[in-house]
Amino acid sequence: MVQVFAHRGAAGTYPENTMVAFKKAKRLGADGLELDVQLTKDDQLVVIHDETLDRTTDGRGFVHDYTYEELRRYNANYKFGAKIDFCEIPLLEDVFKWCKDNTLKINIELKNNFIPYYGMEEEVISLIRSHRLSKRVILSSFNDESLVKCKQIAPSIETAILYNTRIMHPWYYAEHLGVDAIHPSYRLIDRYIVEECKKRNIAVRPYTINNVPLMKQIIEDGCDAIITDYPERAKSLLKK
Ligand code: G3P
Ligand code: MG
Repeated sequence: MVQVFAHRGAAGTYPENTMVAFKKAKRLGADGLELDVQLTKDDQLVVIHDETLDRTTDGRGFVHDYTYEELRRYNANYKFGAKIDFCEIPLLEDVFKWCKDNTLKINIELKNNFIPYYGMEEEVISLIRSHRLSKRVILSSFNDESLVKCKQIAPSIETAILYNTRIMHPWYYAEHLGVDAIHPSYRLIDRYIVEECKKRNIAVRPYTINNVPLMKQIIEDGCDAIITDYPERAKSLLKK
């Protein structure tokens, strides 16, 4: 069965990467969450997409210039709309604590392709282990070196390479890195790629697919999952 991952939570309808969005995603039937992590000045793992606060919050500047105590005062709902009030920028640990009572898969995107965030891999893996979530998480990144490092530290945790430019043979790239899955932009997916990956047991989970005809195509191509801002659309399509 094709799994549905709620991109940044149900980010089409709720403020991205907030506990509100993750909880709504679960209620909308998502099988998993996708979220993005960065490191604060005091080495806390926070869930936010951009390296800076400006686009999604009422703060300014780089995430890594703030301690978590400083960061949590900013409103992650500031740019989204008035329907929901103040939303804290969550810690990755907040998500893990909430996930203790559900069975959602958690696709953690390490946002370390612009800022390397030295030591992030160890921090994330240690938190995963302390919450006994090794079997429920997928670590993804556009930073291939970081994924190699994750595999060295924790061979049993699933990893996935993200990419958004064409790679002629992505299955060889995945094999070379030793990752378990590819997470390409949906524009780069076709049936041949899916078939070649399947032969090698490499999972294929394209992002970010928000319209129903495209979702249909992705399902027909045989992908393992859909990463979407609108999990309810994918779930209702899959029910038909
Ligand atoms: O994990 C898929 C997707 O989230 C990658 O791109 O920029 O939305 O984090 P972005
Ligand atoms: Mg992401």
